[in-house]
Amino acid sequence: MNQLSQLQKLTIAVISLLMIVLPAHAQDAVLTPIVRYEGIHHPVLSRAGMVVTQNAIASQVGADILARGGNAVDAAVAIGFTLAVTRPRAGNLGGGGFMLVHLAGEGKTIAIDYREMAPAAATRDMFLDAADDVDNTKARFSHLSAGVPGTVAGMHYALTHYGTMSWAEIIQPAIELAESGFPISYDLSGRLDAYSKWLTRNDALRAVFYLADLTPRPAGELLLQPDLAWTLKQISAYGPDAFYRGAIADKIVAEMETGYGLITKADLAAYKVTEREPVRGTYRGHEVIAMPPPSSGGIHIIQMLNILETYDLAALGQNSAASLHLMTEAMRRAFADRSQHLGDPDHYTVPVDWLISKEYGQALASEIDPTHATPSSDVSPGAPAPYESPDTTHFSVIDRDGNAVANTYTINFSFGSGIMVSGAGFLLNNEMDDFSAKPGTANAFGLLGGEANAIEPTKRPLSSMTPTLVLKDGQPILVTGSPGGSRIITAVLQAIVNAVDFNLNVAEGVHRPRIHHQWYPDTLLVEPGMSVDTVGVLKALGHEIAQTSRTSGSVQSVGSSGPGSFYGAADPRSPDGLAIGVDVIEASAFMAE
Ligand code: DON
Repeated sequence: MNQLSQLQKLTIAVISLLMIVLPAHAQDAVLTPIVRYEGIHHPVLSRAGMVVTQNAIASQVGADILARGGNAVDAAVAIGFTLAVTRPRAGNLGGGGFMLVHLAGEGKTIAIDYREMAPAAATRDMFLDAADDVDNTKARFSHLSAGVPGTVAGMHYALTHYGTMSWAEIIQPAIELAESGFPISYDLSGRLDAYSKWLTRNDALRAVFYLADLTPRPAGELLLQPDLAWTLKQISAYGPDAFYRGAIADKIVAEMETGYGLITKADLAAYKVTEREPVRGTYRGHEVIAMPPPSSGGIHIIQMLNILETYDLAALGQNSAASLHLMTEAMRRAFADRSQHLGDPDHYTVPVDWLISKEYGQALASEIDPTHATPSSDVSPGAPAPYESPDTTHFSVIDRDGNAVANTYTINFSFGSGIMVSGAGFLLNNEMDDFSAKPGTANAFGLLGGEANAIEPTKRPLSSMTPTLVLKDGQPILVTGSPGGSRIITAVLQAIVNAVDFNLNVAEGVHRPRIHHQWYPDTLLVEPGMSVDTVGVLKALGHEIAQTSRTSGSVQSVGSSGPGSFYGAADPRSPDGLAIGVDVIEASAFMAE
């Protein structure tokens, strides 16, 4: 027992001697490399730009573009096309999304809305059955569930207005990956396995992703997508017209005809990208810039931050029951308002100014009881004064000049509607389910919606996607966003609070367990890893806890402390994600900072 080796004895002797002869601060230095890291998780550090996506191949494509001198928008558009190949469950040509672009030189941020639009023939009751109930199969898994895709037009708009490189150059990596293949990840193969019963029903999709015996193509096998390569080449050669008016439009319409879908050539030709003014708020001396409607995300992030600003969260402690309680109460109230006041601003007047005002935030905060959960039945959407007006993927990019892009885009569920456009190799979204198919009832994410989000021709369905920038003194300090349906908004909220209130680095802030509440169902979702004692206190405060093994969101963040100092962290909740820096600073340098 306790037989020490000669080497161990010698080591102890040397350390003991040092303790005697060295002054205290030098003793500290001896011990520092072993024990004194400020966080458990560390971001990637770089000097000349950062790319964070949910897919390592796409991150590399983006980082290569930045290294070649492309700006953040060039990299973002290349990533957008690459993810359509390498992360087919969410990356897309057949969906839509939102991109925030921050232009460092002009100190200006632009919101690009390339959300899907309802086809002209869409009707308010198109998903109701004879009993007046929502037919979820129709709303989620049929050709009718697809909105007119916006991604190709959105990428083109971003590149031609704010990029520097050519369209063909930007698409080329995606073409090569579709044509020559890339190794299937465990995650992709696993997801295909999980959804195989549903996905193998579509012939085109089955041929791409499954073997003859209907098992998914295994991890490590090269995934070849020749039809998708054809589509990308068409887009590269003929621009968005190929998709909205040309050979690809013909294939989309043919697909609609076989499946009784609504999208026509006229719908495709009429698709329009809209540049919007972002919503803006402040939080403890920082500026928060986020996506306006038809996303609900930006408004509710600012609304919840306004509520939380009235409390000293830092003093309460990160993930303490007291701070989680306050965040839950803020979430509950924001989602109540979402159910009534949010919709496509081109079809419905959203009371934005009222929702994001400090006064309304303070009024909501004053209703919160710090010692008890408020039952959701006691919370209703607020009333503005009458005169006032299951997959997605996010990536964040910053370039050496501080231009930044936060982009979230989606086909809604993992693999969208499960319908691949025959001969074109891409999946169609099922975004029509984000409308309130029957106002007053919930969609697939359990989100209640009202008249504001009823189906109308050419309308854009309400979204939760929340690409967000946090600025300090005009410089982005956080570029962030997440997939996760309704949980996007609350995941982004916690990313901001973890950075601003709890001063956590982006990696640490993204790793910490999260919570989610959305008014109804009146349950507080708690991620694995949250302290059981904390959960116990939350229960005692009156929260109905739903603790599942499922995680919430996948936050992809870039942080910055100024020019030439960038931090990247991909959320480990998505196994394929990666942060890649340009001109990376080694870990030892990070420790010295
Ligand atoms: O736009 C929305 O809010 C939803 N279609 C997003 C879906 C989603 O995030 C699914 N993902 N993980």
